[in-house]
Amino acid sequence: MTASEKPVGTGGLSRRQALTATGIALGSTLLPLAPRRARAADRAQITFASANFYGRETIAQVVDTYNQSQSKVQVTFVQLPPPSSSTEVHQALVQQLARRNGTPDVFTQDVIWIAEFASAGWALPLDQYFGPGVRAAYFPGLIQACTFRGKLTALPWHVDSGMLYYRTDLLQQAGAQVPTTWADLTATAQKIQASGGAKFGYLWQGKQAEVLVCNLVEVIASAGGGILAPDGRTVLIAEPPAVEGVQFMYDTINKSKISPQDVLSWDEEPSRGPFTSGESVFLRNWSYVYKIAQDKTESSVAGKVGVAPLPHFPGGKSAACLGGYQYGVNAHTQNRDAAIDFITWMSSPATQLHFATGLGLAPTRPAVFEEAQLIQQQPFMHTLKDVFVGATPRPVTPNYPQVTLVLQSAVSRALVSGDVQTELNRAKDRIATIVSS
Ligand code: GLC
Repeated sequence: MTASEKPVGTGGLSRRQALTATGIALGSTLLPLAPRRARAADRAQITFASANFYGRETIAQVVDTYNQSQSKVQVTFVQLPPPSSSTEVHQALVQQLARRNGTPDVFTQDVIWIAEFASAGWALPLDQYFGPGVRAAYFPGLIQACTFRGKLTALPWHVDSGMLYYRTDLLQQAGAQVPTTWADLTATAQKIQASGGAKFGYLWQGKQAEVLVCNLVEVIASAGGGILAPDGRTVLIAEPPAVEGVQFMYDTINKSKISPQDVLSWDEEPSRGPFTSGESVFLRNWSYVYKIAQDKTESSVAGKVGVAPLPHFPGGKSAACLGGYQYGVNAHTQNRDAAIDFITWMSSPATQLHFATGLGLAPTRPAVFEEAQLIQQQPFMHTLKDVFVGATPRPVTPNYPQVTLVLQSAVSRALVSGDVQTELNRAKDRIATIVSS
């Protein structure tokens, strides 16, 4: 096997095959593929900092494919903590971007940082490079999320949204339907737990971390409420739908007992583990889980997993938190053209298709959702496309890093004490001060 044929992905995709796939899948929109001619030193050198995503394939391998595919730019990948450590990834990026020295040239940013990075002047406006015709190929809501005060300061990479994973076999044995309300989910989980079908009913992420806010947005929105009103100033976190949502979270552990106490220390992967090892009926998680759950080498429930929109309260509607990452170019980069070339390739239809099938990261281009390969390998992405498109954003404000810390600590305390209204009242006052400053 030559170096260029070394496997790069779970599917045993050789580097040459990956290049071919990248080159032909949606050829017209791609950069021309050229053999690696130029020596590394002759190329424009840029650095790319990103959280490293889950699954066996790594972002480093995709970056390597880019380096192999052309001879003008050499990208060095700087790996940050996993996306579940969103606060730490944020900190690492802020420390570097605040130096304004052009490093890293390109970075990826969680959807919640766009306003902050743009308002600090760290993210290069991209409008002149990605005009209206290019932008029209992405979901409009994501382009909107990438736009701050009328300027495009980020380019969509992948979209995430919370969803309900369930065991098809256990539901069938129990004669139960896929739940659409939280009450149905609770009743089905309890029934299956009581019959010994599974140890846990419902796993979610209650760790004092960013993902707790994602779970929070979903339960609150599914009761018809929110955290911050669209005016960006009115704080809704102590209103009845928010109290109902947080009370439900508390009750899963302490009343209905469909969730173990451990969810309070679990983020994405620790909660995914017991589900794919067959110990739980339901799991709330992101899209990356599907590929792992259906892989016999990593999951004992392969072939027995379904995915559905998250349940809601009576009278409410299913809600998914909007997650996902975008590319950003450092406003102080010395290598603008190279940076633009790289993110163009990274956000191209073929690379998005590869991220979807290789790493379980959902595309931000509607056309990629219609690709036969995606429909075959990630069928739920296609059927749940509307969940991704209609996902509920977290509060959009340049002060989001402060808002999230208040939410994380208040909700954590409420989930331990059960004193939901008191904790949310306190959070309301603190958030009101932050957003009015
Ligand atoms: C996922 C989402 C991201 C979110 C993070 C929380 O990576 O894409 O938006 O902030 O999870 O852990």
